[in-house]
Amino acid sequence: MIGNPKIAKLTVSGLAFGYAEQMVQHDVSFEVKTGSIFAVMGVSGCGKSTLLKALIGLLRPSTGSVRFDETNYWSLDDRGREEMGRRFGVLFQGAALWSSMTAEENVALPLEMMLSKLPKAAIDRLVQVKLSLVGLIAGRKARPADLSGGMRQRVGLARALSLDPEILFLDEPSTGLDPISAKRFDDLIVELRDGLGITIVMVSHELPSLFGICDDGIFLDAETQTAIAHGSPKLLRETCVHPTVRAFMNRAQPAEKTNGNGHVAQ
Ligand SMILES: Nc1ncnc2c1ncn2[C@@H]1O[C@H](COP(=O)(O)OP(=O)(O)OP(=O)(O)O)[C@@H](O)[C@H]1O
Ligand SMILES: [Mg+2]
Repeated sequence: MIGNPKIAKLTVSGLAFGYAEQMVQHDVSFEVKTGSIFAVMGVSGCGKSTLLKALIGLLRPSTGSVRFDETNYWSLDDRGREEMGRRFGVLFQGAALWSSMTAEENVALPLEMMLSKLPKAAIDRLVQVKLSLVGLIAGRKARPADLSGGMRQRVGLARALSLDPEILFLDEPSTGLDPISAKRFDDLIVELRDGLGITIVMVSHELPSLFGICDDGIFLDAETQTAIAHGSPKLLRETCVHPTVRAFMNRAQPAEKTNGNGHVAQ
């Protein structure tokens, strides 16, 4: 693992956030260590995606602070926030690709916007590097509608990686994927963390991903509108007594096909 895992990359303190007509969560505090994979968990509608919006600058929290490397993001001016934002990569829920653009055009877009002085050949080269990082060179000329769900998520991931982020925010990256594609996607996330030292904040409902790759996490509750548990998904499964967390962690997982040696068939 690259970086110092003891140092917090992201520190969230007393955060309250919501929309004009509705408060979503309040008093949310947690710390994401450098080079860790941090899970944001909770039932549908509890505010996971809204929390990500408050972390990446799309929604101003009503109170509390979000610190990256100790800098208070929401106390920066517009320019400071924009500069800080270049250090984030985001894979939105459902990948949110531009449907009229090919995979490579989707990945090129942030580069063209942020590095407008770079010649086209250099941008093309960077796009190829990012697509090969996620194993998607073959599908680079295809439009999102012609790609599988797993490939679309990979394009979204390549786009999120386009500006070499220090921290990646992934909103349900493997939801809707078959178990094998989901496992491959999880392996890719771990490779990015181990190989590039990227810190990862991941919203997920997928138990194999949560138990398989997440080091730490937070569980948001829709009813009380705050965090009701902190810790790695495995630890929460074993020790958390809150009925909502228990129901979430202990729901039945789909049976995996094994090859007789206890390994998942590929
Ligand atoms: N743009 C918006 N304007 C107003 N309310 C919103 C907006 N987006 C989400 N909400 C509401 O905020 C609450 C939290 O929504 P959010 O999308 O953050 O939940 P979530 O935990 O990500 O859910 P899911 O697991 O289904 O993706 C919900 O009640 C939702 O209806
Ligand atoms: Mg969501």
